[in-house]
Amino acid sequence: MNLVSISENKNLEKRIAITPEIAKKYISLGFNLFLPKDYGSHLGFKDNNYKDLGVKILDDENEIISNANVIIQLNLPDEEKLSTLKEDQTLVGSLNTFVNKKKLDTLKTKKINCFSLELLPRITRAQSMDILSSQANLAGYKAVIEAFQIYERAIPMMMTAAGTIPAAKVLIVGAGVAGLQAVATAKRMGALVFATDVRMASKEQVESLGGKFLTVEGAENLETEGGYAKEASEDFKKKQEELLSETLKKIDIVICTALIPGKEAPKIIKEEMFKNFQQGTVIYDLAAIQGGNTVFTEVDKIVEKNGVKILGEANILNKLPVSASNLYAKNMFNFISNLYDKENKRLNINLEDEIIEKTLIK
Ligand code: NAI
Repeated sequence: MNLVSISENKNLEKRIAITPEIAKKYISLGFNLFLPKDYGSHLGFKDNNYKDLGVKILDDENEIISNANVIIQLNLPDEEKLSTLKEDQTLVGSLNTFVNKKKLDTLKTKKINCFSLELLPRITRAQSMDILSSQANLAGYKAVIEAFQIYERAIPMMMTAAGTIPAAKVLIVGAGVAGLQAVATAKRMGALVFATDVRMASKEQVESLGGKFLTVEGAENLETEGGYAKEASEDFKKKQEELLSETLKKIDIVICTALIPGKEAPKIIKEEMFKNFQQGTVIYDLAAIQGGNTVFTEVDKIVEKNGVKILGEANILNKLPVSASNLYAKNMFNFISNLYDKENKRLNINLEDEIIEKTLIK
């Protein structure tokens, strides 16, 4: 079987889906690998690193696609490339089914098997394939680093002969995978950390990392059976607003990560609340691309409002693309291993396997 990947649009996406370490594993599993020239060179993975392992490097991406049984990507390729896909080929990636529904429907009618790994069930067996977790974890870490870099004061408490610098106070809004890593990172750097979430299970997790959990009093637990957040009621939103408005008066840095699957991000930090912030506060909004958790967030811009800086990027993972690619490529490999029938050297799309059934776009 031929397994390939083509270059992403590097202006938007610096991560790659097959690193040399993982190429070796695919070859050991029995795949022939094809990649385009300079596939990973922007990350320091030279063509020769791949060639030495037995990967074939080709000039023409259309030739690569036409040879492929399996195509592994980050994002959905452009329309021109998609139009060259043929029946029975398999495309695997983070295909953003919500935004790309029309294009994916066209591929389905052409009998191309598309798997999107953001649809993975959050079950134990799928953890090693979980691209949402591996990438959110890095995003949570990097958001803290970015915010701390722009913040114009020191983070840890320092007691010096010239006086004492107080520890910075950091608030994490949304304590899922990204938020918990943000709690841990901010804590490691000496900040005092507060966090809030609509899921009560996250209280214990925040506290185990040394953060203080801010509970919205009287609120019901807004967690679905799958472990995700439900949209909050008007009553919850009002109580959350009161709690945060008070808390923001003493906060120096806010990391926003709150998301509701398939919906626009909740607008948690409202215009009114900006009056309560201290001058020099920095907000990093990881929900920017889904509309943002603050009313003023703009993608890829630093917005200043009442002395508060609000940052949010389309793809923060482009700031640590090597680490992100290493984890993503490993997640993909674990998914393909589960899909591959080694004895018969073919993919086995077994819809009784929950992982395969949930990720296949139907
Ligand atoms: P996510 O990226 O969808 O959302 C981020 C966080 O924002 C969540 O914790 C969510 O509860 C919170 N949130 C949403 N609306 C909010 C609001 N109005 N105010 C405050 N917080 C709000 O979530 P993520 O990080 O993907 O985690 C979802 C769940 O999946 C969690 O329960 C997590 O523990 C679970 N999980 C399970 C895994 C497994 O394999 N068993 C692996 C990874 C995550």
